[in-house]
Amino acid sequence: MLRIIIIVIIIILIGIQFVPVSKTNPPVTGEIKAPDDVMQILRTSCYDCHSNEVVWPWYSNVAPMSWLVAYDVDEAREHLNFSEWASYSADDKAEDIEEIWEEVEEGKMPLWYYLPLHPEARLSDADKQTLKIWVESGGS
Ligand code: HEC
Repeated sequence: MLRIIIIVIIIILIGIQFVPVSKTNPPVTGEIKAPDDVMQILRTSCYDCHSNEVVWPWYSNVAPMSWLVAYDVDEAREHLNFSEWASYSADDKAEDIEEIWEEVEEGKMPLWYYLPLHPEARLSDADKQTLKIWVESGGS
């Protein structure tokens, strides 16, 4: 009985690898412009979800992790895409910039489960301070 269950699980795990996952990087149409130190933080800590320059990690090739990664990137880009920033209205930009600080201050971004595999994306106090000053200056 146990052997059958294990075999069935293995077959399912192999089977789900064939479900297509959309891992795209559309063209960068209008990247956000910010001071170098801010850009570096965004690139290191946010671009793997909120951009069209996602570095798809190795585990994004393995279902079911691949589904979660693709779903997160989809959702993240819908909320905020630094690669299509230029197409946002002035109001949207202002709102997004405030939300960036809110999310960072509350420790909600980058998503916690992303950090163990991407420790370089963890924001130091200095990083947070840099973002805060940038946001308070209106994101310029
Ligand atoms: C591992 C993927 C991932 C990373 C890395 C990530 N985000 Fe997100 N982000 C998401 C997802 C998914 C959503 C949409 C769902 C949600 O709000 O949880 C989101 C939503 C947001 C929102 C919109 C919140 C709202 O309520 O509309 C902001 C602002 C944001 N992220 C900022 C950032 C910033 C700034 C960074 C880098 C410091 C970052 N994120 C890093 C996945 C990510």
